[in-house]
Amino acid sequence: MGWRGILGFDYGIVQAPLGPDISGPELVAAVANAGAIGLLRAPDWECPDYLRELIRKTRSLTDKPFGVGLILSFPHEENLKAILDEKVGLLQVYWGEFPKERVDDAHRAGVKVLHQVGSIEQAKKAVDACVDGIIVQGYEAGGHVIGQDGLIALLPRVVDLVGDRDIVVIAAGSIVNGRGYAAALALGAHGVCLGTRFLATEESYAHPIYKRKLVELDKTAYTNIFGRARWPGAPQRVMRTSFFNEYGSLSDHDNETNHPVIGHSTINGMGKEVRRFAGTVPNATTTGEIESMPMYAGEGVGLIKEILPADQVVKNLVEEAKQVIQQRFHSSKNSK
Ligand SMILES: Cc1cc2nc3c(=O)[nH]c(=O)nc-3n(C[C@H](O)[C@H](O)[C@H](O)COP(=O)(O)O)c2cc1C
Repeated sequence: MGWRGILGFDYGIVQAPLGPDISGPELVAAVANAGAIGLLRAPDWECPDYLRELIRKTRSLTDKPFGVGLILSFPHEENLKAILDEKVGLLQVYWGEFPKERVDDAHRAGVKVLHQVGSIEQAKKAVDACVDGIIVQGYEAGGHVIGQDGLIALLPRVVDLVGDRDIVVIAAGSIVNGRGYAAALALGAHGVCLGTRFLATEESYAHPIYKRKLVELDKTAYTNIFGRARWPGAPQRVMRTSFFNEYGSLSDHDNETNHPVIGHSTINGMGKEVRRFAGTVPNATTTGEIESMPMYAGEGVGLIKEILPADQVVKNLVEEAKQVIQQRFHSSKNSK
């Protein structure tokens, strides 16, 4: 393994699964080839054959292991079976229960399990289920946010909970550079999981306007106005775009089904209408009023200054973190 590698990978860096299809084969393979952990995202509906194709396409671009993320609140039994049959390196699960019997099934198939959690209670369940890794998502994270606690408070609690068990703890939320990586290590994490930073890469499947906004904008909001009908009770962190600043509230009983179609997208091979206030971010195929669509991002977005190749993101994280640790923790120059 390389510098601070985890789970048999060179580095302790995880590229978060980016729904609905933003972390596709190109991004995941680029991350895997760079020695980090890339995660595809399984579609929100049962389509095991399509998912197998995604896995095979990724394998045609890398001979390194990678994983797949599954949202447990959507139908997923057949997709899960495909993931285990394909024996990918890792299964990442989020937003639901994944008890020990399920983890045992994955282990029998040779697949390691990462559970992303947002509270100490959810972390306890993941420990009881004997997962291989817990991704601790802080409130500052981009995309859907499952908890209410900031990373700096929650992460050390999960580290203490895990103790000396053979479970890696991975920090997620607003980490975009080596300073964030080093801070997570100082809080006791073994690795880091980045969504927004990998969204802003050449290989991500995000729409070019969305990528441009990631460089231009620096403010986010925690909200629940997007995608209420498709995924109720799932708040998200988005960029404060002009659309959000103007229309950033919705009455309690309202949702996207009451609003007009503002565009079209092909998502995981399916043509879809996009309504105003729908929850899906614009991908490379999306047409229409792109700037009125949700643009998920973590609070760290203000630190992103350019779109980079994904392997450069991995290299920068490792080099900067090493440097920060050397300069701030090992050098006597900083002790005042
Ligand atoms: C565009 C986008 C899509 C996301 N989709 C998923 C997803 O499908 N499954 C998941 O577990 N997490 C998803 N997340 C959340 C990440 O797993 C992770 O918690 C988050 O990105 C970390 O915060 P950061 O974006 O500040 O790095 C998404 C995040 C973003 C920005």
